[in-house]
Amino acid sequence: MDQIAQKFAVCPVSELADGQYRKLTMVFEGREEDCLLLRFDGKAYAYINRCVHMPRRLDGEEDRVFDHTGRFLRCSMHGIVYTPQTGASVSTLCEGEQLRAITVYEDDGEIGIADFRVTACYVI
Ligand code: FES
Repeated sequence: MDQIAQKFAVCPVSELADGQYRKLTMVFEGREEDCLLLRFDGKAYAYINRCVHMPRRLDGEEDRVFDHTGRFLRCSMHGIVYTPQTGASVSTLCEGEQLRAITVYEDDGEIGIADFRVTACYVI
């Protein structure tokens, strides 16, 4: 039987433009985790904000998660670059390893998290 995911609204759709992101704290599989909700090429994505290389936030050293081109996500610690669409590393370091994806929704002009593994969610 499918589990019904609770919806956690984050912001109006109009407040998350391409290349923008929001930082969230959520309870994911019973643990508190930082999360990134972002938009790229018109589509919204969310990932646990933890690099595949070491347990560090992508924005731990710099206050941004997109690289200078705006086409990739980049960890500010050692520079691993990820595709925004899949969260997969395209760097030699940890190539192919993926950020953990979270399910997002966009309904009635609102965007948020709707993932059965998430039981609480707060905008930082
Ligand atoms: S901790 Fe992210 S690249 Fe090393």
